[in-house]
Amino acid sequence: MTLKFTLAADSAEAAAVPCIVVGLYEDRALSPAAARVDEHSKGALKRLIESGDATGKLGNATLLFGLAGIASPRVLVTGLGEQKKFDAAAFNRAASESARVLKGLPIASAVSFLTEIDVPGRDDAWKLRTAALAADSQAYRYTATFKPKEKSKTPQFESIAFAGVGENAGSKRALNQATAIANGVRFARELGNLPPNICNPAYIAAQAKKIADAHAGVTLEVLEREQMEKLGMGSLLGVSQGSAHAPKLIVLRWQGAGEKAKPYALVGKGITFDTGGISLKPGAGMEEMKFDMCGAAGVLGAFLAAAELKLALNLVCIVPAVENMPDGNAYRPSDILTSMSGLTIEVLNTDAEGRLILCDALTYAQKFEPQVIIDAATLTGACVVALGKHASGLMTKDDELADQLLASGNLTMDRAWRLPLWDDYQQQLESGFADVANIGGKYAGAITAACFLSRFVNGCRWAHLDIAGTAWEEGRKGLATGRPVPLLTQYLIDRSA
Ligand code: BES
Ligand code: MN
Ligand code: ZN
Repeated sequence: MTLKFTLAADSAEAAAVPCIVVGLYEDRALSPAAARVDEHSKGALKRLIESGDATGKLGNATLLFGLAGIASPRVLVTGLGEQKKFDAAAFNRAASESARVLKGLPIASAVSFLTEIDVPGRDDAWKLRTAALAADSQAYRYTATFKPKEKSKTPQFESIAFAGVGENAGSKRALNQATAIANGVRFARELGNLPPNICNPAYIAAQAKKIADAHAGVTLEVLEREQMEKLGMGSLLGVSQGSAHAPKLIVLRWQGAGEKAKPYALVGKGITFDTGGISLKPGAGMEEMKFDMCGAAGVLGAFLAAAELKLALNLVCIVPAVENMPDGNAYRPSDILTSMSGLTIEVLNTDAEGRLILCDALTYAQKFEPQVIIDAATLTGACVVALGKHASGLMTKDDELADQLLASGNLTMDRAWRLPLWDDYQQQLESGFADVANIGGKYAGAITAACFLSRFVNGCRWAHLDIAGTAWEEGRKGLATGRPVPLLTQYLIDRSA
């Protein structure tokens, strides 16, 4: 369950809730709510600053308890950084840090006054969505595969109200959107975090069925191996050969506009575990390859959000779900696969498997005559080298589509950065034995992977998001992030009438 988001109208000193959140700049200026708290508590915040206990540094938060003259027992003073540098990123950080403290307190709800603070170039709706999503992201906990805990008596953090914005239709719509996006993000994170012995291709298909069953207007079709054989999906099936888990091609459709309106198509890489296959990956860090279905999780999450918002557009979401394993029956380097498009592919590395399942999914997507295709995939380590963990790689030849996707990412703090997709790179995919090779050599790996995909989209408006760096947090306890659900959902919201 996501957090519950509401609007609050109380003034800071009068809000009778377990905790209120106010802001403090590094230059000692108080947010309006903080100033009221200071006034009604006879200077408690000024004394706090004098003592040096609160500095206002961005990312710091100080909890005060039992202030005289303030209805709420707790006041969380959140650092906002330098006032003249306060911007969208700082707002997001302050909202996130305050929520991190809130979820650790023995309380179920709070009122945040951070939303009253002006953010240059951003409106109330943006502040509400951003603060709500930051709070929900902090509140998420992964529990699925731990021993069940006895129900604790301390309350769990479950709802947050935002103050200082108009209680109007625009604000309500913003919180609705935030709830839908948060649902999509949570869906993607949970699916991403599950281990591959649970989250196999059939499991992802079962999750898609849950989405279809829960929403009128959503239909599901799951193609089995035999149907994929009939369609000639030799590339996707080649990858699946070494796995004991049957591959699934999951097709969800949302009909939010008239029959004639061409759909938007989302395609997500669903490798439920990537061992590399016969081109086996090294052992260290291989466990992270359970996240190799985060493209699938991301497009399903965005689809879920779009269906919950009943967006006025048609949408088709296609997920090839396959496990990449070494085996006596596995595909091998030098195999030639024949894709559904008819193009033959020389396999030079069985670890470049994502593009091999995506190419057949992209060909299949064109059956729906989509107006746009966007794919999301944890496709290349090279993308992580190029852009690190902050930006997803965006590759498309369509400048307008690129600008729209970049804008959606900027708005939702789920940013992407464009890499070129010039034809100059295509020659790296030449093969002496097939129409195309599945790897492009050591340079520009993220781009040559996109070049490979581009050969299967036949002039359709198409963009590729490489989320290899952004889909999960590094480290032993690193969790799936739910990216690029916010970017994709915002893109769809902006396209719906
Ligand atoms: N799933 C990986 C890409 C990946 C690697 C994502 C590390 C995140 C972190 C993909 O299937 C893969 O193995 N790609 C190869 C391609 C290479 C063989 C051309 C890679 O990036 O090394
Ligand atoms: Mn691989
Ligand atoms: Zn992979």
